[in-house]
Amino acid sequence: MQATGNPTLLSVTECLQQVIEDNFSPEDRESFRRAESYRKGLLDSTEVVDYSVFGLNQKSTVGKVCRQATSPAVWARLIFALVKHLSAAKVLEIGTNLGVSGSYILEAMRPVAAGQFITMEGMPLYVDIASRQFATIVPEERFEVILGKYEDTFGPMVVNNEGFDLLFIDGNHQKEPTQQYFRELLSRSTRPSVWVFDDINWTEGMVEAWDNIKQDVAVAYSLDLYKLGIVIVDPSVKAAKHFSYHLSY
Ligand SMILES: C[S@@+](CC[C@H](N)C(=O)[O-])C[C@H]1O[C@@H](n2cnc3c(N)ncnc32)[C@H](O)[C@@H]1O
Repeated sequence: MQATGNPTLLSVTECLQQVIEDNFSPEDRESFRRAESYRKGLLDSTEVVDYSVFGLNQKSTVGKVCRQATSPAVWARLIFALVKHLSAAKVLEIGTNLGVSGSYILEAMRPVAAGQFITMEGMPLYVDIASRQFATIVPEERFEVILGKYEDTFGPMVVNNEGFDLLFIDGNHQKEPTQQYFRELLSRSTRPSVWVFDDINWTEGMVEAWDNIKQDVAVAYSLDLYKLGIVIVDPSVKAAKHFSYHLSY
């Protein structure tokens, strides 16, 4: 990967290395401690979650949702490292959930005074919980949690935004929506960008979506980490290259 000399790919490689070697500064470790302490509070919560917004007659608790749906620490650290290393000023997350990965993202964006984080979620309770947490990390004008089903909110969000540096696609893990998010966001992409797709091997549909995304002509590099897939979109690179890398399952 280093042989390409591409600065964005080199940054991504260095982030992977940093996570594998657990080579973080004391300040970064303090960020992780705060984010994990937030996670711990959620895990202990028995607050009831009601899925009626999605037309489902099911209930759960915040603790269970946190255990099942939030990014494990190792992957959250990778997202943190990417945001920080790339000095990402504009970050999009599809899939806020309870704001665990969002906490890592905002911890990494703390020093970027002009940073803007947009994250999207359909469950009102999650939006409330995550928004309160985010406001403890950065001032409220530096993040936006968009409430609503993506079927209603994604289109307007794309029209109103462009130029994301880093995009974390971690909601609605189905083939067609995942491909649609990529296609439509790509049409508004104005500079080299790093895209992280979660659960690329979750289902056959997600495997197909990942295969199609990485073969897109706009993709300069792809990294298959089995759980996560990362693509770099960089118009200055003419011939695409694909890598596989083992980090953790
Ligand atoms: C896997 S979780 C995100 C986890 C989070 N990124 C983290 O690591 O902490 C995916 C979230 O996407 C939301 N979601 C899935 N499909 C959606 C849709 N069609 N509209 C709105 N929200 C949706 C779910 O409610 C869930 O909270």
